[in-house]
Amino acid sequence: MSTDDGTPAQRTRSWAEPFKIKMVEPLKMTTRAEREVAIREAGYNTFLLRSEDVYIDLLTDSGTNAMSDRQWAGMMLGDEAYAGSRNFYHLEAAVQELYGYRHLVPTHQGRGAEHILSKIMISPGDVVPGNMYFTTTRLHQELAGGTFVDVIIDEAHDPEHLHPFKGNVDLDKLGALIERVGAGQIAYVSLAGTVNMAGGQPVSMANIRSVRELCVRHGIRLFLDATRLVENAFFIQEREPGFAEQSIAQILHEFCSYADGAWMSAKKDNLVNIGGWLAVNADDLFEGLRNLIVVYEGLHTYGGLAGRDMEALAIGIEESVQDDHVRSRIGQVRYLGELLTDWEIPIVQPVGGHAIFLDARRFYPHIPQDEFPAQTLASELYLDSGIRSMERGIASAGRDATSGDHNRPKLELTRLTIPRRVYTQAHMDVVAESVKAVHDVRAATRGLRMTYEPKYLRFFQARFERLQANAVRG
Ligand SMILES: Cc1ncc(COP(=O)(O)O)c(C=O)c1O
Repeated sequence: MSTDDGTPAQRTRSWAEPFKIKMVEPLKMTTRAEREVAIREAGYNTFLLRSEDVYIDLLTDSGTNAMSDRQWAGMMLGDEAYAGSRNFYHLEAAVQELYGYRHLVPTHQGRGAEHILSKIMISPGDVVPGNMYFTTTRLHQELAGGTFVDVIIDEAHDPEHLHPFKGNVDLDKLGALIERVGAGQIAYVSLAGTVNMAGGQPVSMANIRSVRELCVRHGIRLFLDATRLVENAFFIQEREPGFAEQSIAQILHEFCSYADGAWMSAKKDNLVNIGGWLAVNADDLFEGLRNLIVVYEGLHTYGGLAGRDMEALAIGIEESVQDDHVRSRIGQVRYLGELLTDWEIPIVQPVGGHAIFLDARRFYPHIPQDEFPAQTLASELYLDSGIRSMERGIASAGRDATSGDHNRPKLELTRLTIPRRVYTQAHMDVVAESVKAVHDVRAATRGLRMTYEPKYLRFFQARFERLQANAVRG
């Protein structure tokens, strides 16, 4: 039952979790000496730590959600038929109702959907404009022969700028790109909301309407990365004139109506531990998807998922759009952000939807970007308290496909990502205290050197070693 009657007046009251806890999973605490060994063995990469060595796990909000009792009950209703599982039809109906698209194929997770969409839509030499890159999305676009071009507004690259919709597309940049390469060279416009790499920043309804208009004028298709669109809808409800009286579900539906389709990493907004989907309106596109899904994921009625997973996902979609859920989810992220802001810790502002992003450039002004300040901060946080965060800076950005040099993003961030329905406010207090402790000793901290670099998505598996104080700058 909702505690939030949806009115703006109600929204000025304190938020609280719209659930109570009936099953717990113990957390393990470690000593600093144990953590020194663990992070060294992990090559100072938090992705390579064992989760049993982690205390509070803020690596990602992906697949780390707590499912509800209804979702767990749904797991027992799995119809594990190879073809035509009834759980698929439940999932299809949930996506049709809440996201509004006619055709659906499930995928094992978001990158499975990105792979299929890129293969269908991109020809070698094409350009794919988008509102800031995402690691797996851009890689699949490149592997299909495309070139990603960032057309997000400039404010998105400034961690201190307080623009309320930092995920917006810069229409002049997009218009100029279409003019320069020609509409025929543009595979599609790739629009994400909220924008992960910008700090979980939203796109406004006005902006997607204008992007849609531009796309229609030039005959270009528009696809959404719907991974965190529910959270995007919350910001529209809160910040954009005319939406305060609308529900999250209504806003989500309208937002999706401006795109030709969407792909989804259901492990985030949709409140499950595994899954994804790809949904479109056009019959010809669906025909293409159905053909490729059987090659790479599985039959078009399971796409790499078990029936029980599709059932949990269908229920998760229904729960994810409840206003009081979204309000408390973002309320918890903001609570942590406010503590850190009060202590003058540099973070991306305004606080976004799924995480707090520490600004490693301002945190460690003495560590050059090539010595991985955000990666350093993630390992120092782990050393201090066993809290696991992750890098979103030069390591995540990879190398330029042509020159081979590091991509050097303006944003050099360490992400404290909050899983949905998992941790309490007291955990957020502990996290904030640890960030402050690491901040207090920042001047003595040295950077890292990369000792192993994988070819693709290097941040996942790269290894580093610590630079000693006297080896840093001669
Ligand atoms: C914005 C965004 N898009 C796509 C993906 C890829 O999804 P998955 O991890 O399910 O493959 C992610 C995952 O982190 C994401 O954050």
